[in-house]
Amino acid sequence: MPKIQFAGASVESLEGANLRNVLLRARLPLYNGAARALHCRGLGSCGTCAVQIEGDVSEPTAMEKVRLRVPPHDRQRGLRLACQVNVLGDLQVTKYAGLFGQGDSTVTSLEREWS
Ligand code: FES
Repeated sequence: MPKIQFAGASVESLEGANLRNVLLRARLPLYNGAARALHCRGLGSCGTCAVQIEGDVSEPTAMEKVRLRVPPHDRQRGLRLACQVNVLGDLQVTKYAGLFGQGDSTVTSLEREWS
């Protein structure tokens, strides 16, 4: 069963599970700031669930490719939309600052408690 490391926590996932669903079910802080309430609920259109992923996941969907070309995202950065990703192995997932997770600094779980 794949293990996902995120924001100082470790959770197990079924292989093939949707990454956004796994993180939200574990009550892990996928969204930053106002995006916690204002997001597209996994349609792949808002871009606020962007994360950096190390590990084996599904290929980018067509919707994901389109959304990650739209600022503030930059496709060259290599971020993925958690709502469009299926877990295929152990993962290290990192969330960056900014409403869309497009910032340069990582956001720790402690900072999230105070934002
Ligand atoms: S939740 Fe909106 S793009 Fe993923």
